[in-house]
Amino acid sequence: MSLIPALKKRYAVKKYNPAAKISSAQLDILLEALRLAPTSFNLQPFHLLQVTEPAVREHIRTEAAFNQPQVTEASLFFVLAAETDVDEQTIAHSIDLAAEVRGVARSTLEGRESQIKGFIMSLAPEQRLIWAQRQAYIALGVLVSAAAEAGIDVSPMEGFVPNKVDAILGLQTKRLRSTVLVAVGVHSNDDEHAHLPKVRKSIEQIHQTI
Ligand SMILES: Cc1cc2nc3c(=O)[nH]c(=O)nc-3n(C[C@H](O)[C@H](O)[C@H](O)COP(=O)(O)O)c2cc1C
Repeated sequence: MSLIPALKKRYAVKKYNPAAKISSAQLDILLEALRLAPTSFNLQPFHLLQVTEPAVREHIRTEAAFNQPQVTEASLFFVLAAETDVDEQTIAHSIDLAAEVRGVARSTLEGRESQIKGFIMSLAPEQRLIWAQRQAYIALGVLVSAAAEAGIDVSPMEGFVPNKVDAILGLQTKRLRSTVLVAVGVHSNDDEHAHLPKVRKSIEQIHQTI
């Protein structure tokens, strides 16, 4: 389906069919969309953590996510986590990759490297995390759009306590911060949200010429 009709059709699923599974080909679409999402300075400062252990999903649902059923009932469940310590090494690795992929001498990218370091390292650590989380949200948007186009149901969820999810998954030691939860699966036929008219502001309310 092309994008606009797909965005009209998609919705944030509240009730999944626990028996319906997402194929590895469908998962690949979502991962590739996330990977291809644009980010500031192309740093991609996030990880999509797939939580596979049912007991851990249950723990997150009941202890950290306000008992939202999507956490345990969807075929797949992820935590999109932002890097807490984007640093000079992160930036250097990104420049290494760019030099390699584009087949240019690393020295030609050093001006850009200092520009990126100048911006990122001038941010206080909390601001740097906020910046990384913004990049994660861009990727989330691309993932949600790709899912819609491919007819895959997803539920982005901010209704959780990050400190608790971080503790359950040991994210602090991995220098990650849980940012948004993402359930992926097939909606249940009796999800009453499936047929609700889409509520959105009009284009005139959002778009102004100034
Ligand atoms: C970042 C983000 C966080 C959200 N968190 C939750 C959540 O925790 N629980 C929930 O039921 N829905 C959540 N939603 C779903 C939104 O409420 C939903 O996308 C919005 O009301 C528009 O409805 P639609 O997506 O069905 O068109 C979230 C959506 C986004 C994009």
